[in-house]
Amino acid sequence: MFKIQLICLLMIICCSAAYEIKLENNGPIVRGATIHFKVTVFDDGGYQPTTNKIKFRWSDGAIPRHTKESNLVQNGTDSWNITYNASVYPTGAYVVQVIIRECNWIGFCYDAGSARTEFYITSNFNGKLITDQTNKTLPNNYVSTKDETDFLVELKATDRDFIHTAPSIRTYWFVDCIYYGITTDIKFGINFTLADQVHLVEALVMADFSPPVPTTTTTTTTTTTTTTTTPKPTTTTVTTTTPKTTVTTKQTTTPPKTSKIVKRSSNDEYTPQESNLKIWNNGILKPYNKSLPFICNSSYISTDPNKIYGYFSKAVQTKDPLFNTTVTGNNWLQPGDLLSLRVQCNGSKNFKYCVEFKRGEYNITGNETCEVQQQTDMCDFSIKRYLSYPKNTIIIIIENDVSKEVKLVTVNIYKVKKEGQLSVIVVPVAFSLAAVVLIVFGIAYYFQNRNRFIIEVADFNFGHQYADLEYKTFRERLRDSITNAFTRTPASNSGSEVPVWPPGRKYGSMT
Ligand SMILES: *[C@@H]1O[C@H](CO)[C@@H](O)[C@H](O)[C@H]1NC(C)=O
Ligand SMILES: *[C@@H]1O[C@H](CO)[C@@H](O)[C@H](O)[C@H]1NC(C)=O
Ligand SMILES: *[C@@H]1O[C@H](CO)[C@@H](O)[C@H](O)[C@H]1NC(C)=O
Ligand SMILES: *[C@@H]1O[C@H](CO)[C@@H](O)[C@H](O)[C@H]1NC(C)=O
Ligand SMILES: *[C@@H]1O[C@H](CO)[C@@H](O)[C@H](O)[C@H]1NC(C)=O
Ligand SMILES: *[C@@H]1O[C@H](CO)[C@@H](O)[C@H](O)[C@H]1NC(C)=O
Ligand SMILES: *[C@@H]1O[C@H](CO)[C@@H](O)[C@H](O)[C@H]1NC(C)=O
Ligand SMILES: *[C@@H]1O[C@H](CO)[C@@H](O)[C@H](O)[C@H]1NC(C)=O
Ligand SMILES: *[C@@H]1O[C@H](CO)[C@@H](O)[C@H](O)[C@H]1NC(C)=O
Ligand SMILES: *[C@@H]1O[C@H](CO)[C@@H](O)[C@H](O)[C@H]1NC(C)=O
Ligand SMILES: *[C@@H]1O[C@H](CO)[C@@H](O)[C@H](O)[C@H]1NC(C)=O
Repeated sequence: MFKIQLICLLMIICCSAAYEIKLENNGPIVRGATIHFKVTVFDDGGYQPTTNKIKFRWSDGAIPRHTKESNLVQNGTDSWNITYNASVYPTGAYVVQVIIRECNWIGFCYDAGSARTEFYITSNFNGKLITDQTNKTLPNNYVSTKDETDFLVELKATDRDFIHTAPSIRTYWFVDCIYYGITTDIKFGINFTLADQVHLVEALVMADFSPPVPTTTTTTTTTTTTTTTTPKPTTTTVTTTTPKTTVTTKQTTTPPKTSKIVKRSSNDEYTPQESNLKIWNNGILKPYNKSLPFICNSSYISTDPNKIYGYFSKAVQTKDPLFNTTVTGNNWLQPGDLLSLRVQCNGSKNFKYCVEFKRGEYNITGNETCEVQQQTDMCDFSIKRYLSYPKNTIIIIIENDVSKEVKLVTVNIYKVKKEGQLSVIVVPVAFSLAAVVLIVFGIAYYFQNRNRFIIEVADFNFGHQYADLEYKTFRERLRDSITNAFTRTPASNSGSEVPVWPPGRKYGSMT
């Protein structure tokens, strides 16, 4: 009686401890898969308790239900994996609860809080279709026409682990309602060659769990704390593991997107009667009327309990990458000249570009990015700028939705030194020479003119004597001459010396 009172007292003292509980799951899961739960508790100070006095009591809301109680743990973390047998547990929302049990030194344990988490079991695989080009996952729905496009079903980790246990996996591929066949992996490659088109790519993953040989494995169901090892992860195994604790933010469970797949009640695969499904046959597109679990655009799917499907689709738009990028213009400039370059390229539109000016040399790294981009529909733009630095590097970054190009143009500014001096010298020298020649000619001309002037003066003087003659008539002159001749001759002869006649004058004497 005293002992019970003591325990009650201890309970009251101990129960003041409050824990913050984080419970996480990695759902949703496809039916038959294994889900993982992790719980972490924190004390008032936000630390994980390090005393050996906490254990966890797990249970789920499924029918039949699973439970587990952990051992006392050191560091306030625990985890739980449950596999939900596809033929026992239907799809839908489920809840898992964990109760924190704190134990005192006597060994008496009491509840110190609880937490619940909700998750979904889906009928189809969870995941998405991703596109790869040159081994890189594309960030958007644009694909380049230059490279092969690889479509890849990326399953959730839980479902991927589960599908690997299936004896056979087949994926049916459809592009625009054309059946492209089956791949045994979940990957499919295609070359889109025409630009600016939208293609709908659909993948139907089929995991066949039909056992080739019926197995007679006896399985323990639920409420055990020991791990039951089975060859196939189809039993409801309850495990006690405490993986590493990582504190993460609280998980919010949202219902998975409802699949577009419409189920049929029949177990047979659907045989299309009148569908737009086609198949390539020897290079010719033919209607496909064979049995398929699916018609394009997620119309029908069969439901075989041994088969689990996943439907994934993605619409992609094809784009031409940039090609034939050219930069034209003069990159040897004189100071004061305007740099004028023209950039042109080809490719699918929505071009984005930017131009950066750098002084000196620049080595391209390949991952240059624009801070401010300009958009254009036509890849044809010009770059105009006055530059002052002798050596400049112009970085032109052009992008479209599927490619990017970086072009470098080196622009040099040069001065024409020698030619400039030559013209400076030649012109004055030429003019000086011309001036000298002019002066020389001027002086020469002056002297020449002065001689002529003097001669003219002499003529003038001589002419002055003739001036009288002009006033005389021929008869007068004749008479004068005769008179002279007669007047002179007697004067000369009277001198009794031999008269020296000039030759011309002799003629005069004869007259
Ligand atoms: C429980 O699941 C997690 C994550 O899926 C896995 O890492 C761990 O190995 C599983 N534990 C056991 C005992 O199977
Ligand atoms: C992509 O990766 C695979 C294997 O990792 C390799 O064989 C292939 O050559 C790669 N393709 C390209 C385009 O890099
Ligand atoms: C698929 O179906 C949607 C409507 O359900 C329709 O708009 C779309 O055109 C269809 N796509 C193809 C390729 O048939
Ligand atoms: C796509 O084209 C490349 C090069 O032309 C070729 O090597 C590759 O096999 C093609 N892929 C498909 C799926 O046709
Ligand atoms: C699922 O449960 C059914 C019925 O209890 C059982 O026959 C089957 O073997 C279980 N599947 C697996 C994979 O354990
Ligand atoms: C918690 O303790 C378990 C053993 O009890 C250990 O395996 C695990 O690594 C520990 N985790 C952390 C985060 O210390
Ligand atoms: C499919 O259609 C072709 C003609 O379009 C016909 O010859 C063939 O028998 C059909 N096959 C089936 C399984 O219906
Ligand atoms: C680039 O343009 C020239 C003519 O403009 C053309 O002959 C050449 O094929 C083009 N190159 C590419 C890769 O399209
Ligand atoms: C390439 O672009 C130029 C101008 O941007 C255009 O004139 C030419 O037609 C284009 N060539 C091709 C093959 O698209
Ligand atoms: C560019 O690279 C060359 C050698 O590749 C190097 O000599 C030069 O210094 C580099 N220039 C700059 C600006 O980094
Ligand atoms: C990208 O540029 C940064 C520096 O800006 C450099 O550290 C990095 O190595 C470059 N990456 C590639 C792939 O060139």
